[in-house]
Amino acid sequence: MDKLKMTAKVIRQDEIAYEIYSLLISAKEIADIAKPGQFVNLYSADKSRLLPRPISICEIDKTAGTLRLVYRVVGDGTKEFSALTSDHTIEVMGPLGNGFTLEGKKAIIIGGGIGIPPMLELSKQLDCEKSIVLGFRDEEFLSEEFDPYGTVYKSSDAGNIGVKGTVMDAIKEYGITGDVIYACGPIPMLRAISDYALANGITAQISMEEKMACGIGACLACVCKSKKVDEHSKVKNKRVCKEGPVFYAGEVEF
Ligand code: FES
Repeated sequence: MDKLKMTAKVIRQDEIAYEIYSLLISAKEIADIAKPGQFVNLYSADKSRLLPRPISICEIDKTAGTLRLVYRVVGDGTKEFSALTSDHTIEVMGPLGNGFTLEGKKAIIIGGGIGIPPMLELSKQLDCEKSIVLGFRDEEFLSEEFDPYGTVYKSSDAGNIGVKGTVMDAIKEYGITGDVIYACGPIPMLRAISDYALANGITAQISMEEKMACGIGACLACVCKSKKVDEHSKVKNKRVCKEGPVFYAGEVEF
């Protein structure tokens, strides 16, 4: 089934770290068909803000018909969403993007910063041995929720959480190995992971959702170079929000 646009009821919202919010909405029709690594677009009630905001799906509960979205406040749109409470509804469209392909026997799941939330539903659904590597700036969030699904390793820029440095530093420090990598986070992190995977012959699925702006193919802010000519545009580029956000390492350039 294709994407849907609907009015979703807000069930609850909590600030789980500084300017990072966890929003639970009732959106049964979208939850029914959503996959890990996909995202939804949230629409502002302020009609002067026409472009929606793409937000990754952190958890999908098909039984309850709910989606959990964890996002960082980065501008007026997300600031408005952060004020939503259980009295409110919100316009939502989804599920969008391609999501992760579940594969491999020994996975390394890597989330950096606000790229951590989509890795939670993936960690739940992926049925194999899992090392989960989470990279923070200086404040930890969501990490204890990963504990039931694999061995969790941490790194932080400030050095106050886990290994001081990047997620790649943690992978080296702990000698973490696997036959498939799943990653989402800031572009420099994804570039380093992609280079590491290609150099070591490891399959890597990389979610580039950080590059997205409108999420609906309208602003072209998300275009990245691809190795092959794109069937849609006939040039060597891909829109992260349409053809992604998940790509195989080597498929796109950062
Ligand atoms: Fe605007 Fe992709 S995010 S075109």
